[in-house]
Amino acid sequence: MFTVTLKNSGRRFPVDAGETVLEAAQRAGIALPYSCRAGVCGSCKAILLQGHCDYPRNPPLALSGVSPGQHAVLLCQAVPRGDLVIEAREVTSVEDFAKRRLDVVVTEKRTLAPDVVGLHLQPADGEASLNWLPGQYLDVLLDEGRRRPFSIASGPRTDGMIELHVRHVAGGGFTSWVSGGLRVGDTLRIEGPLGTFVPREDSERPMVFMAGGTGFAPVKAIVEHFIALGTRRPMQVYWGARGEADLYLRELAASWERAAHAVRFHPVLSDPEQAAQSGLRMGLVHEAVLEDQPDLSGHDVYMSGPPAMIDAGRKLFLDAGLPEERLYYDSFDYAPDVLAQILAGRAGFVEL
Ligand SMILES: Cc1cc2nc3c(=O)[nH]c(=O)nc-3n(C[C@H](O)[C@H](O)[C@H](O)COP(=O)(O)OP(=O)(O)OC[C@H]3O[C@@H](n4cnc5c(N)ncnc54)[C@H](O)[C@@H]3O)c2cc1C
Ligand code: FES
Repeated sequence: MFTVTLKNSGRRFPVDAGETVLEAAQRAGIALPYSCRAGVCGSCKAILLQGHCDYPRNPPLALSGVSPGQHAVLLCQAVPRGDLVIEAREVTSVEDFAKRRLDVVVTEKRTLAPDVVGLHLQPADGEASLNWLPGQYLDVLLDEGRRRPFSIASGPRTDGMIELHVRHVAGGGFTSWVSGGLRVGDTLRIEGPLGTFVPREDSERPMVFMAGGTGFAPVKAIVEHFIALGTRRPMQVYWGARGEADLYLRELAASWERAAHAVRFHPVLSDPEQAAQSGLRMGLVHEAVLEDQPDLSGHDVYMSGPPAMIDAGRKLFLDAGLPEERLYYDSFDYAPDVLAQILAGRAGFVEL
């Protein structure tokens, strides 16, 4: 057994043989940032100040392009070879929300967009309501230990309702079933809350939110949280999609401007024809952000959505002066077991 010490707080936790730093931290009740849990998104990146790690599971793809001199480490994959000292962002606000498993019943199923289904879930009889921070996600537990992550599109409510926005992935087992066979009244087993994509309230800086597709779900939860708090911090909310129909809650997002003077909503379409027909802004959503905010050095940025958008945002926003510790994101990658299989099948390739 080895010990990991977190430089900033001085907190220490033990790591069992074969365990990753992230798994050990979670077991000790210490929240370190993560999203994909598969080594591809980079949100768990930290600095290794002392010690050595191995990557016996997935290759640390999110470190490709990072210079070895930076001593970066991916906490979701790194298995210590001895005691470690690391510098990582601790997200203590989520530590009060212990994860647990419960059965939930589907109480509403709605088509939001051609490939997006909205679900309302309620704790099954006898189950206590789940509690979470806006922006967190849950895993739907399937057979054979498989799990599928989905962001909760709402904040916690007194009636226990959990809202999800599920995009159908071509060839995807679970999301195909959600768009087809799943019925109101069906029961799902979930585990949550999970993740560290949550509001940071210890700042007075203006905020930029960037969502791609169903990446709107956690952004919605976080923006609604800040509006409910009555924040005066400016919030620029960008939502990118291919066509107008994919901006499935556009009216709601537009209504935030009326609810709070600090909010500006910017829908952006990547399909030139649909943009021309609708009169909406055309382009890639991260380019729209940078056109409007070329200097991000004074902002906090939240982003969630497809891995390609997250990757582009991560590189370009840092180039635009945003300090890395003020970039918060969830990358909507496939589930860790699926990514592990895909990576194993592509051994030797770096791009997913
Ligand atoms: C933190 C987080 C939050 C998320 N939140 C949301 C959300 O709010 N809304 C949302 O819509 N999505 C969200 N996602 C993404 C969502 O979890 C995935 O789209 C979902 O897990 C897909 O499940 P599936 O069973 O339908 O597809 P899977 O069965 O997992 O398959 C996914 C794709 O991989 C292919 N595939 C499967 N196995 C292999 C293999 N062995 N080799 C090659 N290809 C393979 C399939 O054909 C398919 O195209 C989130 C992801 C993360 C990480
Ligand atoms: S790379 Fe570790 S959580 Fe995504």
